[in-house]
Amino acid sequence: MEEKEFYSTIFKRKSVRNYESIPIDENLLTEISRFMESLNPLDPEIKTEIKIISGEHVKSLIPQKKSPHYFAVFSETKEGYLTNIGFMMQQMDLFLSANGIGSCWQGIPKPTKEVLKSSNLHFVILMAFGNSKEDLHRTNISQFKRKSLDEITDIKGEEKLLEPVRIAPSATNSQPWYFTRDNEVIHAYCKKLNFLKAKLMAKWNKIDMGIALYHLTLSAEYQGKKAEIIYDKDVENNPPRGYYYIASVKIK
Ligand SMILES: Cc1cc2nc3c(=O)[nH]c(=O)nc-3n(C[C@H](O)[C@H](O)[C@H](O)COP(=O)(O)O)c2cc1C
Repeated sequence: MEEKEFYSTIFKRKSVRNYESIPIDENLLTEISRFMESLNPLDPEIKTEIKIISGEHVKSLIPQKKSPHYFAVFSETKEGYLTNIGFMMQQMDLFLSANGIGSCWQGIPKPTKEVLKSSNLHFVILMAFGNSKEDLHRTNISQFKRKSLDEITDIKGEEKLLEPVRIAPSATNSQPWYFTRDNEVIHAYCKKLNFLKAKLMAKWNKIDMGIALYHLTLSAEYQGKKAEIIYDKDVENNPPRGYYYIASVKIK
């Protein structure tokens, strides 16, 4: 599959929460496993592990419809690991949607003890997937309930580059991101939360930032440019009020 299809999938993807109970075809599962091995990390130094598990190995405090399959995602807990997982697994979200399979990030449910014990790495998040019982795609951009561009950036004249970032998915649709620019470098920041909210959301927000950064790199590449993730200490020390720094993308 080409990157171009990934790009166009950004404009129609949605979270699927209603699945056929029958498992997806074995051959398709093999293709998915193969793609799983090829995900691009934001930071290749961070060890990750992804397992495909069935719905019976997932439990949730809140009653939720099960899907037949889930990715259970594990990682080393080095600096930036949550953003790295967001960046990697958003490739999977787009891959599945582009191939006619439904998926949904799952921050609330957890895998069973046996699954947790099966990896030496720290459990991060689940993503549900399977054949969708509902419409798989949006048909119009107005169906994305999102903030406007001027709520998430002060950059002017880059609507085409930033639109795929604006419509990226995030936990509880919180869209915690803000973007500024210095010449060819775009800086990404995440909203600071009060203590109570942070307890629930801070982990997810860092995953959200990885998702947005992946959409930004895809968007830059679609425009024929090279996107390189960099970290700028000076920028880190001077974030916009109410935000903290995550990373920057150099676009050339
Ligand atoms: C890190 C993360 C965790 C999420 N956790 C859940 C969840 O536990 N349950 C759920 O139904 N949706 C979950 N979502 C899906 C979001 O609610 C959804 O992406 C957002 O509302 C935007 O809608 P869309 O994906 O259809 O564009 C999660 C999304 C992200 C990025």
